[in-house]
Amino acid sequence: MKSYIVGNWKMNFSVGESSVYLHKLSQKLRASRGLTVVVSPSFVALQPLSLQIDRKKLRLAAQAGNPHDFGAYTGAVSYTQLRGIVDYGIIGHSERRQLFHESDKDIRASVAAALRNQITPILCVGETETEHTFGETEDVIRDQLLGGLSEVSTEDISKVIIAYEPIWAISTTTDAHLASPDEIGDVAGFIRRTLKDTYGAATAKEIPLLYGGSVNPSNAGGYLTIPEINGLLVGGASLIADQFIDIIEIAKKVQD
Ligand code: 13P
Repeated sequence: MKSYIVGNWKMNFSVGESSVYLHKLSQKLRASRGLTVVVSPSFVALQPLSLQIDRKKLRLAAQAGNPHDFGAYTGAVSYTQLRGIVDYGIIGHSERRQLFHESDKDIRASVAAALRNQITPILCVGETETEHTFGETEDVIRDQLLGGLSEVSTEDISKVIIAYEPIWAISTTTDAHLASPDEIGDVAGFIRRTLKDTYGAATAKEIPLLYGGSVNPSNAGGYLTIPEINGLLVGGASLIADQFIDIIEIAKKVQD
């Protein structure tokens, strides 16, 4: 299966800084058939970067989007407006769920809106530290997965990417808080089984499954060799060009 390295820049970089960064990245990257590299800048940078980007090397993702096509939604940007600018949309990121109160209903509508606008949803799921501690991970992941995908047909599910991001492992500064490959492998296996129950084994096995949570050049190799994992969603380390490029190079080696 193809693999993916996605850089989520969150609310970082001015438009000018985004452009300079993308130029640097583009100069160092060689197109690779088996690996898709995606970056996800702020809304304001997406349109200018879409004119600058070499789509053979890199693709763009939105960090969020409004599921309505047009209308009186002050401050919002819709997937219809993003169509042609981005190829991917990060949907249901834990920061959107927690800080912007996005519900499974909003997330489901966003997945549907992205799909009808030819944007590939990257649906994020992940449990909090408390849910992790109390052994509720599978229940939470099942609810988020089925909640986000309930309107996605068997035909459309092949256009969806799932990202597992345990909230307790995001932006952690201590190794003790890193998710271990075994822990990730268990949850990834559970996600795959849940998808299989809904969409059948043949379809489920083709759905790319990414891992995100404090990924850096030191741990990327270990995460990329987890059997069910097909790529990485990188936050902090994607803001440092050299680190992001190192992670991409590691992914290429794992692919070969
Ligand atoms: P960090 O890599 O900074 O932990 O962020 C992960 C993330 O939230 C990517 O979407």
